[in-house]
Formats: sequence, C-alpha cells, structure tokens
Amino acid sequence: MCGIIGYCGPKPMGEVLLEGLKRMEYRGYDSAGIAVRSNAEITVIKRAGKIATLREAVQGELEGDCGIGHTRWATHGGVTDENAHPHLDAAGKVAIVHNGIIENYSVLREKLAAEGVEFASETDSEVIAHLIAKLYDGNLAAAVQQVVQLLKGTYGIAVTHIDEPGVLVGARNGSPLVLGVGEQEMFLASDVTAILGHTKQAIYLEDGEIVTITADDYRTTDLQSRKVDKHIQIINWELEEIEKGGYRHFMEKEIFEQPESILRAMQGRLDHEYATGHLGGLNMSKKELLDLERVKIIAAGTSFYAGLVASYLIESIARIPCTVELAAEVRYRNPIVERNSIYFAISQSGETADTLYAMRELQRKGARVLGICNVVGATIPRESDGGVYIHSGPEIAVASTKAFTSQLTALYVFTLLIARMRHMSYEAGMMFVQALEEVPDQVAKVLNLAPAIAEIAHKYHEARNFLFLGRGINYPVAFEGALKLKEISYIHAEGYSAAEVKHGPIALISPDTPSLFLVPDDALREKVISNMKEVKARNGQVIAVCVEDDHEVAALADDVIMVPRVHELMYPFVMTIPLQLFAYYTALELGRDVDQPRNLAKSVTVE
Ligand code: AGP
Repeated sequence: MCGIIGYCGPKPMGEVLLEGLKRMEYRGYDSAGIAVRSNAEITVIKRAGKIATLREAVQGELEGDCGIGHTRWATHGGVTDENAHPHLDAAGKVAIVHNGIIENYSVLREKLAAEGVEFASETDSEVIAHLIAKLYDGNLAAAVQQVVQLLKGTYGIAVTHIDEPGVLVGARNGSPLVLGVGEQEMFLASDVTAILGHTKQAIYLEDGEIVTITADDYRTTDLQSRKVDKHIQIINWELEEIEKGGYRHFMEKEIFEQPESILRAMQGRLDHEYATGHLGGLNMSKKELLDLERVKIIAAGTSFYAGLVASYLIESIARIPCTVELAAEVRYRNPIVERNSIYFAISQSGETADTLYAMRELQRKGARVLGICNVVGATIPRESDGGVYIHSGPEIAVASTKAFTSQLTALYVFTLLIARMRHMSYEAGMMFVQALEEVPDQVAKVLNLAPAIAEIAHKYHEARNFLFLGRGINYPVAFEGALKLKEISYIHAEGYSAAEVKHGPIALISPDTPSLFLVPDDALREKVISNMKEVKARNGQVIAVCVEDDHEVAALADDVIMVPRVHELMYPFVMTIPLQLFAYYTALELGRDVDQPRNLAKSVTVE
C-alpha cells in the first residue's frame, strides 16, 4: 500500500527520497512522487507508474534542506500524475504526503471549494494541504495539530512548509509512521525498510501523536501540544535481509530461507526437559492457560490459512475447540466474547486494517487478543495483550511464503504448550518436539526438488484454471497453494477439500483443468486416493504431492512431487513448499512481476 519517506539532513535530498521509495516498492503502488523544500520553492515531481519513471523525471540533483516522498496505491481517483502525492496547497507553500483514507474529505472539499480553493487532484488527501495552508500562522506543527482534528478517518502524514526551512512535521492516526534518528539527520517513514540503509534507531508514533523533526532534533507531542517522551528502539533487521542477495526475486529468496526462518521461530521455545513449549510473550499465567476453554483465530489471506491449519492441530492434540474467522467479517458481526477464551490475531505485517480493527472491536468487548506477527513494533503487536513474534526477518515479496511456515511454527509451539497441560503425555510431547525440530532439515530436502518442480510448472503453465485439493490438516494448505498461484501467476485457482470435489467442482474437470492433490501418508490417504481416481476417471490431469516411495500414488498421477515422510502433523510444512515453488516457477514461465504482482499490496492498511 502507500509508503511515506521524509528526510531532514545533509545527504543529497533526491537520492535519499528515491532510495527510500525504492525500498518500499514491495508494498505495492501505482504512482510515486517527491517534494523538496529549498529557499526558493517547494519542487514537486510525481509520476504515475514505477519509481524508474519518477527517477527519469528527476533531472540532476535536487538541492534542498528537507523533503518528502510517497508511493501511492490508488483509492480515491485514478492512477494519474495529478493524483500522485505529494500534494500542494494552491499557493505552493505546503506539501503533504498521506497514507490512509480521509472519510469526511468530500465535506471538507466542498467547504474549501466554496471559499474559492481550486483542487488539482481527485484525491481525498489534497484537502489536508489546503487546510494546513489556511490555518498556518507561523507554526507548522500547530497548524497540523489543528487540521488533524478536523479529519475523520485514518492518516499517516508528512508535511513541509516553504516558511520553515529544514522542518518536517508528521502525524498519525491508524496508519503507521516511524521516526528514524540518525547522526545529524532525521527521517520519517511509514515502514522501517525505507530508512534501514541509514539508521537502525526508530521511534514508533502512536495514534494522536505529532512529531516535528529537523536534522538534529525531534519533538513529539499529543494533540494538546503536551510533550510525549518516546523511547528509541533498535531495528533488529540487517540491510542484507532487505536485499535480494543473488536471488532473482525476493520471493525466491524467501522460499529458500525457510529452513532458517522456521528454526528461528522455534529457537528457545522448545523445552526438552518437560517436552513442552515456552512462549514468554503470551502474558498468561499457568492458571489462565489451564482455564482456557476456547481458542479463536482472526486473520486475513495467508495468515488466515495458517490459522486454519492450527485449528486442526489445536483441536486434535490439545482438545480445545478452536474456530478461525476472516478478520474482516468479525468486526461487523458484533462478535460474542466468551469467558476463558483467547483470540490470536495473526498478521505478518502487523498492520492489516481488517485484522487490526477486528482486534480492537474484540478488545472493546473484553477479549484477550494475542498477536502472532513478524514486524516488530507494528500496530497489532503493540496494541495486543501479548503474543509471539515469528522472527522470519523482513518479508519483501507481496506473496507471503516464509511468514506462513513461521506462523505455523509459533502456533505449533503454542499448541504443544497447552496440549501438555492437558491430555498429552510426556512421550507424545517428546515425539512432537523431535518432529518439529526435524522440520527445517526436511524443508531443506524439499527445496532440493526445485528443478523438478520448475519442469512441472513448465508443463502446466498454460492452464487457465487449477484445483488444489487436500484433506484434514492439509486442507488449508490447498487453499494456500491456490492463493499463491492466483496472486503471482494470475491463473484462476481454487482450493477445496478433496472430498468436496464430487459435490460440484468436479464439473470443472477436463484435460484443461489440472488438479494438484496433497496426499500425505496419514489417516486420510486412502480417501484422497479415491478422490484422485474420480478426477482421473474424468480425464483430469493430476499432479500429486505425496511421500517418497508412494508408488501407488505415483502410478495414478500424471506428475508427482515426492516429499520426505514426516510425523503426520508436520505435513503442512513439507506440503506447502512445493506449492510455493510451483507458483513461483509458473509465474516465471508467464513472465509475471513476481515480487509485485498487479493490483496487490504487501500490507493492506485499508478496510
Ligand atoms: C499473501 O500472499 C497475501 N499477499 C495476503 O493474503 C496476506 O497474507 C494478507 O493480506 C494478510 O497480511 P498480514 O499477514 O500482513 O496481515
């Protein structure tokens, strides 16, 4: 989604801003722009399209004492140069960039228009620039403070004024904004990746806070001008982690990082002495964990599918009822919060609006909501009542891969913990611990199948429809595989329970609609084989992901991907990897923009 960068300092202004925007490209955007303040004027350059187009438009070095930049993901108004940010007021004295949505913009716009203000764009954001210009009385922070109180909706903003050399003001409500503290330089950004090349010291703004920065100082206040003391936090990501490191795409790199990222998600969390899990961040006493009667999970997209896998696990080994709901549906259904229940809000980014708003609604009703997040310091982990960081490292590709397997890992550790407090024996706990610890090596083995999977992708890349079929704990993995293929190859794909196919989707089966079956060696294997036969009998092409040496399945399928035999509850890990690779290689065959697929954003901060 949209990205903000702001800079006060001695480095070449245009370069810092363009580099910051480039680092945020992964978030998804359709236009970009920068504004640089100098004593003569505020220079704004903005273009629809990619940052490369903007870079071409920036002739030479831009001199200035501060500047702001933005990547826009269109909401109000089409993808045009005019609608791209930054936006100026009519006199060209104020420039703003804005993330979020101003819900009352049409009322504000009408009022300003009645006063004679002419608008240059169709966006909701432009009103902010005009309002600041109107209320400015020699103090930019004071004008921003007044204006944000007129706004309804969400915003992260950065503002510069021609009369305030070397000063930027930022404010946030519902859309992230972080202050980067450097040596004789300061940054504002919506995402730490934009500033990681310059500083690791970050201050996360809360809703209702305003920050004023110069190259060597910053001041944070609330909306009543009261000073707010903030702590500097150290960003624990390395610059190399947000670079491709020899891989063609971030997605490829992130798929191949999974042996290490899964290991990081379990490190220090498995207790061999008592064959259990240990998660310090839950903030729950032993009694509260023992009293737990229900687990509920809210999430979106891939995180939702990780939650679905966990629900099978939690019910089967901890014997606690677990339900999973799309976060977007939770908020507006007036959810019932039951006693002795906990909610998990799963979110890689920790900023997904649907999940965040559902979490707030549940908390309002007294729920205890725990976050399972990757991005440290993001809004969901900060506002949750506790939780678990999955420590995947930055996930840059829009299609989520390593976060999924790390979310699973964290949820597996949690399940072990509560299962061992209930019905699970020490021996069963120890087997589970060992099985989980073997996962990174088994995932590494599956990654060795990449060349063979690339060949299968080559064979099927012209199909326009695909079915992904699984059962039991691997049924959500089928959904995840279908989502990956849709997102990056634009091939229509649906996930189903293999058993459900005969209830309708079988009508789609033809030689042109291949099916990918997940056939682990578990209690449902025979049933899935029957479902495969039903598809084969109707001339459907079948790719099977099965365990090594499963000759029966190999004989039935047109193509086969053989994964290592694992503990039956660990198949979601080893079955997911081939699906990620299959989607990746199919997208490559089709020449798609793998890391930034069309229309998608990495972190979806609007409802
Ligand atoms: C996955 O590949 C997606 N791009 C998307 O479905 C994503 O999982 C979803 O938007 C939720 O994001 P979150 O985990 O950051 O909340």
